Amino acid sequence: MTWARVILLSMTIASAAATTALASVTKAPFGASADGTPVEIYTITSGKVEARIMTFGARIVSLHVPDRDGKVGDVVLGYKDMAGYLADPKTYFGAIVGRYGNRIAKGKFTLDDKEYTIPVNNNGQSLHGGTSGFDQKVWTAKEVADGVEMTLVSNDGDMGYPGTLTVHTKYTLHGSALRIDYTVSSDKNTVANITNHSYFNLSGEGHGDILHDVVTIPANRYTPVDAVLIPTGIASVEGTPFDFRKPTAIGTRIDAANDQLKIAGGYDHNWVLSTSVGTMKEAAKVVDPQSGRVLTVSTTEPGVQFYTGNFLDGSTHGKTGVAYEKRTGFCLETQHFPDSPNHPDFPTTEIKPGHPYHSTTLFTFSTEK
Ligand code: BGC
Repeated sequence: MTWARVILLSMTIASAAATTALASVTKAPFGASADGTPVEIYTITSGKVEARIMTFGARIVSLHVPDRDGKVGDVVLGYKDMAGYLADPKTYFGAIVGRYGNRIAKGKFTLDDKEYTIPVNNNGQSLHGGTSGFDQKVWTAKEVADGVEMTLVSNDGDMGYPGTLTVHTKYTLHGSALRIDYTVSSDKNTVANITNHSYFNLSGEGHGDILHDVVTIPANRYTPVDAVLIPTGIASVEGTPFDFRKPTAIGTRIDAANDQLKIAGGYDHNWVLSTSVGTMKEAAKVVDPQSGRVLTVSTTEPGVQFYTGNFLDGSTHGKTGVAYEKRTGFCLETQHFPDSPNHPDFPTTEIKPGHPYHSTTLFTFSTEK
């Protein structure tokens, strides 16, 4: 064997070792969707961390992580069975939302000189794709190293959007980090904004509100909204309750006399992380003083929607039977900005044929004393 071949062989072995799966993956049935399509749930385990992801809405159903004493708890809101998810089309617990995460004003946008109309489902606006969005679809799953990849094909004209859109959402566990990789492609010019809509409660789901959690968001700007939560532009966080550049408990200013907080009943806004797309950066850090759990969110997306569960109202009961009251979970939805198709100055959400869009988000868990 020549030296070149020896080097090549050892490089191949080294890269195989580098990609050897460290997390284990199992699958099981999880009931059926409303039309009787079977739903499966995948369990990914890495040490003490366990993520369960189901094919209905490609949703995170549970996420167990240790607290400062090593005690494991489930830090996301959700239901114990499909009946719970089918009875609740409003909260989007754990789901991948699309085609367009967050709102499109009046359900209208213009692309290549043509106006498109999509369903309105929220105060006359389109929210998370409109009715029958990706959260309501049964995705196709494939086991991959350290996790599962979910695929959904949305037909040309689905919900009024142009182009056949193919979305791959890959969930993998790496130590205590849950990584989500999105790949979105289309056969015609279209728009898309795909994100995960998990509600976190770092004290454990069903363990009270999230107001004591200490949040850092390293962003100088955010997108203020009008009365129906559509962005009006970009503004500085300086001197406002939206300035989370220094660690601040959510409850410190959430009920401050501030028009933006009044409109949304708390935080429900997009923070501008960057106007360039594609570089990995920290989006947010949340420290839960009760459990010692820390969540760090990093993303290649330009924005993050920080939503404090203001519209939860106690009418739904979660996995352990506890009513999910107002502000008992927070979302950090890494994304492009809401209503971007109607804001030429926001980073574009257009997807063109032959140019798949990739993005990555990491939810990393650690603890503090
Ligand atoms: C939106 C909220 C909405 C919630 C649940 C969030 O992404 O910003 O306004 O209530 O999703 O639908």
